[in-house]
Amino acid sequence: MNCSRTNGASTILTKQSAASVLKAINGNVAATSASRPAFILLQRQCVEPRRQFSTTRKTHFNRSNNLLWKEVFPAKEESEHIHKTPAAWPHPMYTDEQMHAVVVAHREAKTFSDKVAMTMVRILRWVLDLATGYKHSHAVKLNEKDPQAAMNKYGMTERKYMIRNIFLESVAGVPGMVGGMLRHLHSMRRMKRDNGWIETLLEESYNERMHLLTFLKMAEPGWFMRVMVLGAQGVFFNAMFVSYLISPKTCHRFVGYLEEEAVLTYTREIEDIDAGKLPKWEKLQAPDIAVQYWNMPEGHRTMRDLLLYIRADESKHREVNHTLGNLDQHNDPNPYVSNYKEPGKPHPTKGIEYPRPSGWEREEII
Ligand SMILES: [Fe+2]
Ligand SMILES: [Fe+2]
Repeated sequence: MNCSRTNGASTILTKQSAASVLKAINGNVAATSASRPAFILLQRQCVEPRRQFSTTRKTHFNRSNNLLWKEVFPAKEESEHIHKTPAAWPHPMYTDEQMHAVVVAHREAKTFSDKVAMTMVRILRWVLDLATGYKHSHAVKLNEKDPQAAMNKYGMTERKYMIRNIFLESVAGVPGMVGGMLRHLHSMRRMKRDNGWIETLLEESYNERMHLLTFLKMAEPGWFMRVMVLGAQGVFFNAMFVSYLISPKTCHRFVGYLEEEAVLTYTREIEDIDAGKLPKWEKLQAPDIAVQYWNMPEGHRTMRDLLLYIRADESKHREVNHTLGNLDQHNDPNPYVSNYKEPGKPHPTKGIEYPRPSGWEREEII
């Protein structure tokens, strides 16, 4: 397999192309799954991918920026004595069928705490839309009146999607780390067992950071994006810290709703690739960091495949956080690392073999 980039791919997004307005939100991504074989784990070395675009013009980059990139992405993995540093949490294997079975879903907000969480996500979504120029509802309205005008004004391009993905992933790794950290400190402070929650929360934040690092191999954020990420992390970390101390249940529900949005966004990206609206992503290959982390099999290493893996991860976060939001925060064991008395019966696992988009109810698993 040739893993090199084509010239066309390497010049991607040097200027915004006209793009179509998004019409379909839900549904038909499963159409191609039946014809695809289950994955076989294979590893290979690819040519180092070139980044697809920069949100800052190249001429604006100075020496310190370049040094920063080298620190984040070291040129070589091996040192004099170390061959490789593998992922701290190896990623569970997903089959092609499982990833195509992921659906957009919403858990109804039933309690007061659920409604608070839902409102917070709506506010955050509004801010994110404002920051990244993502105006789907406006686009749909204008599309009903004048499709061409809607395409010109609101069409999502590869560049707009990538900016959104980077911003989204830069904050997505915060809640798991805050939750894990606070439960770790609580366990030591109160001299009580944690019942296995900490590792799952830290693993989630690790997984989100891998999403971010993958996208950063494909795009170089400019100074404006960096400032936005810095500010967002500062605000979001502190807000999550205080909120998790007050009501961890609400925080898990909040993350569950946030992940519903992430699944929706990645579903739209996959649908737009399938609809031919993102031509520069059609033949684009996933970077090495992604191939190694997800064990992407040969022949399944395109941008579309990558988005399928990431969307499946987000669906898992959606399920995990809705489930944790249903549990007794202080006494219940983490159902994702527990051994079950009836192991043959569907139950929460690290993989996506038993998907539950709105989470497992407490009485089903505890
Ligand atoms: Fe993510
Ligand atoms: Fe996520």
